[in-house]
Amino acid sequence: MIMEIHTLLLLLTLSLLIIRFLLNRHGRKNQPPGPTGLPIIGNLHQLGPQPHCTLSTMAQTYGPIMSLRLGSVTVAVASSPATAQEIFQKNDQAFADRPIPESVAAQPNVADTLAWAPANPRWRNRRRICSTQIFTTQRLDLLQHLRHRKVQELAEHLQKQASKKSVVEIGELAFATMLNLVSNTVFSEDLVDPEFQSAGEFKELVWRIMEDAGRVNLSDYFPVLKRFDLQGVKRHVAVSYARLHEIFDGMIRKRLRDRESSPARNGDFLDVLLDHCQQGEAADFTVDNIKPLILDLFIAGSDTSGSTTEWAMAELLKNPEIMQKARKELIQVIGTSNEVKESDIPRLPFIQAIVKETLRLHPPVPLLLPYVAGHDVKVSGYTIHKGNQVLINQWSIGRNPQFWDDPLLFQPERFLGSNIDFKGRDFEYLPFGSGRRICPGLPLANRMITLMVATFVHSFEWELPQGVTPQTLDMSEQYGITLKKLSPLCAIPVSV
Ligand code: HEM
Repeated sequence: MIMEIHTLLLLLTLSLLIIRFLLNRHGRKNQPPGPTGLPIIGNLHQLGPQPHCTLSTMAQTYGPIMSLRLGSVTVAVASSPATAQEIFQKNDQAFADRPIPESVAAQPNVADTLAWAPANPRWRNRRRICSTQIFTTQRLDLLQHLRHRKVQELAEHLQKQASKKSVVEIGELAFATMLNLVSNTVFSEDLVDPEFQSAGEFKELVWRIMEDAGRVNLSDYFPVLKRFDLQGVKRHVAVSYARLHEIFDGMIRKRLRDRESSPARNGDFLDVLLDHCQQGEAADFTVDNIKPLILDLFIAGSDTSGSTTEWAMAELLKNPEIMQKARKELIQVIGTSNEVKESDIPRLPFIQAIVKETLRLHPPVPLLLPYVAGHDVKVSGYTIHKGNQVLINQWSIGRNPQFWDDPLLFQPERFLGSNIDFKGRDFEYLPFGSGRRICPGLPLANRMITLMVATFVHSFEWELPQGVTPQTLDMSEQYGITLKKLSPLCAIPVSV
């Protein structure tokens, strides 16, 4: 009986999809050009395992603004600085909200996240608090010692590995360091074992959420299928979200008890949020609805920064002459005995250029986060209709020979003496996005990645594992929630 009901529902759904396809075929006027799709699935089958590359190739045929149909969702893809600028500057009001993937909607109180909430006053308030309480220069300077300690712990761990001539996974270490950094900023404590040995439940949970979010989920392309969760993605990821909320809940309750018994404050982000909670209903903060905001910082901050550090080191191991030039700068500015400090960064233009060049060639979020059109909008003379999704292929823009000389070469020198920056105003270079939803974590990510890369290069010589040479080092990408290295970067630290 249950089987029959399921079959009936599936047939009904398929009929609805066919009717919608037939109605839509000629429905939308003046859409940007794009490849012809198949009935029902549209262009879904054409995306392949590397959608950012496929879309980049398609843009050569269909132009800098094109339109695809992914199941029953219409997606406009911008692939030039001019179209990105039109979206972010001229029409930023229309593209302020995001579609919420089912893997994200699986978490409790999704409307209280920062990355996925609609751009309403509640979101604006949360963003303002993050910007003023975590990411201003003054606040970041105040917590410098914390980052130095985390990077120092990482260096000490590497010293131990160096004495054993052990191979280390650089991305994994950078990811764990970043998780601990965010957890110290929010809770004033580590959530990952400082010896980087055990996988640690927290790291596993964050990792599993990333993996689930990176899976292609039919429910996102056929909203009528949402309720069936045919691939079980939502059910699977919900377990990790629930456990993380439980961990946060325990930490928040403990802090509330500490605050009751003593007026002393840690001065971390949790204290800031709890102060807001105690301002009552008008402040719009409760113990339950601050958890998605905290989780967002962990999810958005750790993998992106870890992966960028890994790509930077991979490029340096692939290009030994650039590694030597970087080390020379570090020794000239800092000497051999001192540790690298954040205050040294302004005097390390070449290291800064390495981070910028890494973000150009290997942006961790290649299509930015998706936007949804709030109303019909004209872009480059075409109409993007209300409800259509918009992607910006900044990976493609960063590798386009129209805007960059020798775009596929890793040449940090191109940023020396150049005014191009990643603050969202240079539309040929948008690793952190642009406009009102630009990455709020940019200043922290920049400081932390630069500090990690500088410490790696300053404190160690690096060797590739036996059998791997700079020429054979695999630089293939794996598309997912972040654009990672397909094979993790393994290398041997050698003490200098
Ligand atoms: C290399 C490191 C990072 C990169 C490349 C990166 C990139 C991005 C991008 C492309 C977006 C979407 C922007 C848009 O839609 O225009 C974003 C959003 C966001 N990022 Fe980052 N990010 C990084 C690190 C961080 C860190 C360290 C944090 C916080 C600890 C963070 C927190 C966020 C949040 C909360 C959002 C959502 C903002 C909103 O929708 O209002 N990110 N990031």
